[in-house]
Amino acid sequence: MLEHGAAPPAADPGRRPPRPSAGPLRRVLRRKPVELLVAESGQGEGGSLRRSLGMWQLTMISIGATLGTGIFVVLGEAVPKAGPAVMISFVLAGVTALFSALSYAELAGTIPVSGSSYSYTYATLGELVAWVCGWCLILEYGVSVAAVAVGWGQYLNELLDGTVGVTIPAALASPPGDGGVFNLPALLVVALCMAFLLGGARESARANAIMVGVKIVALLLFCAVAFTGIRAGNYAPFLPLGLGGVSAAGATLFFSYIGFDAASTAGEEAKDAKRDLPRAIMLSLLIVTALYVLVAAVAVGAMPWRSFKGSEAALARIMEDVTGQSFWAVLLAAGAVIAIASVVLTVLYGQTRILFAMARDGLVPKVFGTVHARTGVPRANTVLVSLFCGVLAAAIPLGQLADATSIGTLFAFALVNVAVIVLRRTRPEMHRTFRVPLAPLFPAVGFALCVYMMGSLSPITWAVFAGWMAIGLVIYFGYGMHRSRLARDARPAPADPQAPVEK
Ligand code: ALA
Repeated sequence: MLEHGAAPPAADPGRRPPRPSAGPLRRVLRRKPVELLVAESGQGEGGSLRRSLGMWQLTMISIGATLGTGIFVVLGEAVPKAGPAVMISFVLAGVTALFSALSYAELAGTIPVSGSSYSYTYATLGELVAWVCGWCLILEYGVSVAAVAVGWGQYLNELLDGTVGVTIPAALASPPGDGGVFNLPALLVVALCMAFLLGGARESARANAIMVGVKIVALLLFCAVAFTGIRAGNYAPFLPLGLGGVSAAGATLFFSYIGFDAASTAGEEAKDAKRDLPRAIMLSLLIVTALYVLVAAVAVGAMPWRSFKGSEAALARIMEDVTGQSFWAVLLAAGAVIAIASVVLTVLYGQTRILFAMARDGLVPKVFGTVHARTGVPRANTVLVSLFCGVLAAAIPLGQLADATSIGTLFAFALVNVAVIVLRRTRPEMHRTFRVPLAPLFPAVGFALCVYMMGSLSPITWAVFAGWMAIGLVIYFGYGMHRSRLARDARPAPADPQAPVEK
């Protein structure tokens, strides 16, 4: 393993970390050599992560994080915008995700570490941009866990209502400001997922695989049942609101693709990360897109598109309308409860691993990088992240902060596309197990699509994002910049790269 501050191997000449005395601009632009990132892989403060995940489990992690509220809830918001052409909107959003997924696949195969896009930008665009990216990932992962946990509570209530005829009282099902005192179900699902994660990555992956299986079966069951209710007339007119409607619905539906990158946070726990991560990312996107288009096609065929307006649980309603029995709707609610729980599990997992990588670099307190010897899990990290997400979900009305998760995610995706272009230029000789075709064109298209989508978000979302970024920059300049291990350990490089380095 390379020591911090050791000169990178000969393949990376001239990329030594600047000395502590370097000017402020050079300090914030310092890049972490790819070899150092890879050499540190798996190592945390006081222990190491375990490589226990195969290709299948990695794919399930990405599907687990992706398939959730988007298809069960957001579909109902998107259909009134596009009409039956909503299936094209899913393809559009899927293609947007695809360009970034290709870039993720290349970098995950080249730099297979836990920090995902945070680490990719550290290697290519420097420490400040990496921090900004990591800060965006907290929006994509940490804050979205809280938002998804809130949605879980709503489905749980529906399930309880349909099965035992009781619901959790509003006071215990919403935070203050949203008509309640405390959101107990949201806290419950986060606590449950925390318990799984503390058991170990392998155990969590196994539980997730079962939950993913259940949600795929629930959606396929929906397709089979709702198929019998399809009326050809429901598909006409196909484009009632024109192409503008299709693209507006596509922007809304992009949310349903967020999460395909989750496998890239498991880089240090994958058995064969270089080979399996690119495959898992691409395969999960393929499976999810196919399912989305299928479900959307059946849904708009079985219910007139205008009836989707204001329908929160559109899929459950279609099941009930088609069969005339509430049993199916209850079954679908059960599927949604499990589906959304697996999003919470995998996204929570991703957040802990990103913070693990950031702690190793000194940009966040080292407690996030401590690994428990027996389970190989960053235990304190998992508890702290769960506590943060649980309290956020239970006690704070998320409102615009939840909307800001999309903008943060798109920003991180945009940076990954840039990182591919930069790494191709700066390190063309590196072995890549997966290459984005037609680079730099495809990453450039991926970048442009992300920026375009960010532009379509509301000014208030931008304002919240700007506020979030401002807080992040204050933390970096007040803490991370001075604690950064790269800066702290920077020493004049010894003549022999293998020679021991004074610490
Ligand atoms: N893609 C995730 C979902 O739809 C965030 O729930």
